[in-house]
Amino acid sequence: MNILGLIAVDVGGHPSACVLKDGRLVAFAEEERFVRVKQALGYFPSNALRFCLEQAGLGLKDVDLIAFGWDATAYRWRFPLFLARSFVRHRVFGRRARARIGAPGRPPLGSAVLSGVRSLVSFQPRTLTEGIVLGLRDAGFKDGPVPPIVFMRHHLAHAASAYYCSGFDESAILVFDGHGEENTTTIFRGEGRRIERLKEINIPHSLGWFYSAFTEFLGWNPNEGEVKLMGLAPFGAPDPDVERLVRDVLEITDDGYRVDADYLFYGPRSYGKFFSDAVVERLGLPRGRGEPLTDRHRAIARAVQDRLEEVGVHLASMALRLASSRRLCLAGGVALNCKMNGEMHRRGIADEIFVQPLAYDGGVSLGAAQALAAEKGDDPRFEMDHLFWGPAYGNDEIEAVLRASRARYRRSPRIAEEAARMIADGKIVGWFQGRMEGGPRALGGRSILADPRNPEMKDLVNDRVKFREAWRPFALSILEEHFAEYVKKPARSPFMIMAFDVAEARRSDIPSAMHSADHTTRPQTVSRKTSPLYWQLIECFRGLTGVPGVLNTSFNVKDEPIVCTPRDAVRCFFGTGMDALAIGDCILEKPA
Ligand SMILES: [Fe+2]
Repeated sequence: MNILGLIAVDVGGHPSACVLKDGRLVAFAEEERFVRVKQALGYFPSNALRFCLEQAGLGLKDVDLIAFGWDATAYRWRFPLFLARSFVRHRVFGRRARARIGAPGRPPLGSAVLSGVRSLVSFQPRTLTEGIVLGLRDAGFKDGPVPPIVFMRHHLAHAASAYYCSGFDESAILVFDGHGEENTTTIFRGEGRRIERLKEINIPHSLGWFYSAFTEFLGWNPNEGEVKLMGLAPFGAPDPDVERLVRDVLEITDDGYRVDADYLFYGPRSYGKFFSDAVVERLGLPRGRGEPLTDRHRAIARAVQDRLEEVGVHLASMALRLASSRRLCLAGGVALNCKMNGEMHRRGIADEIFVQPLAYDGGVSLGAAQALAAEKGDDPRFEMDHLFWGPAYGNDEIEAVLRASRARYRRSPRIAEEAARMIADGKIVGWFQGRMEGGPRALGGRSILADPRNPEMKDLVNDRVKFREAWRPFALSILEEHFAEYVKKPARSPFMIMAFDVAEARRSDIPSAMHSADHTTRPQTVSRKTSPLYWQLIECFRGLTGVPGVLNTSFNVKDEPIVCTPRDAVRCFFGTGMDALAIGDCILEKPA
């Protein structure tokens, strides 16, 4: 059976598409890469789905079903009933919460009601179906019937994307994000092809919103700046005042956690969309955009990250207990927090942990298609060991672009070796090879590489290429054969989704690919099997320097998606201070 998986929901962004043939993943891509707008919020994945169908050699008429990763049918009855109940509950209990924080009167509903009503209208099955049909027509499928559309529950899709890609035959599955329909956290158990729902926590108790609220408070865009908050946290000192507030907002309970919605969801909001004025009463004014970071901001980041880790570990232990399993799968936007994932691993709460690298909403097209495939009798299980599911470009296409750009280049029969030599010589090298990787991290398909040994290299790459905050850490791509020498408690980690403590003796080898405050690294273990050319590059680098890893950052500049085509790569190369570009078999070098 051929299934086209889609997700395009305005609230979360990351529209994407994938194609499954008889349960087997053939292609996956995110729309942002094609339209060149980060996250592509509000777009329908027209380009992504056209690419996926072409890659699979299918027309729309060959697609049996379309799986959509958001359940519109919930908005007929379940969601309105749920909203009504939660608002009544808020009116009754909210008064007590407000009295506690010293705010008088009845809790206002304001924008929470408005956004609920807006969801009710825009996520009705008819509205969403219409949007999908229009999107398909826009993608060039002008005539012929549209295959039946099946709406899948959002958290089930997240869960499927983790469990079916984990290679486990049974596992606990923990999903946490902003929200999917009314759910904010859901625990499942996977066994064979079956996924069973065990527990759910609902709006307004959202860990995604909790983290996004403080991201916004610290002056960054919610749904985007979370990674900055996580990177800033290790620089913060503990601050009892801030910790008290954070604990009041997010309380740990026997059956999970509770978010005090007065701080986030309800109440007047004069400073932010994701937090109410109650937070300002306790913490003072939020940081304005571009304002310098202070110790207070760092302490807030620290307290928020620590709390998330505590709650994350608590929920993961609960999931393992409820599912009677020693294995854990994670998905949902909160699972992108590699420090939290690292903490779960460090504490040894499970024997094995698989974090879906497409844990955010972009991965939901895949999970929706997999969950539907399983329902229809296909077997969607496989062990995901790479993310190269996007478009590739041959040397002919690449050279045509280079000639058209009047760029000076040469062909090299030993591209990996030459690139390794340039990196060892201190050059910043663009690396564009094979199929584009999906997900938020570059994994050696569309990467910018540099020497991790040089402590200055972090600042150089930041200044000359990425144009981003100087304190943010870079990641490490390391040969899997040597990983155990470099970190404490090593485990399989091909996707940069888990932080590890770097062994003391190795810290001086990779100062630029490690967090300077807590000495953790967010590694990609590179395998010869799945990334032969990239593996060869790092092996050559090891031969030259003795260090089996390179600094790897995504091939893009700040605020742009990762490059997709050779043209994007050439534009980025000449628009930044990169020294060289290794694209297919071609090498471009700028004069020294
Ligand atoms: Fe989600």
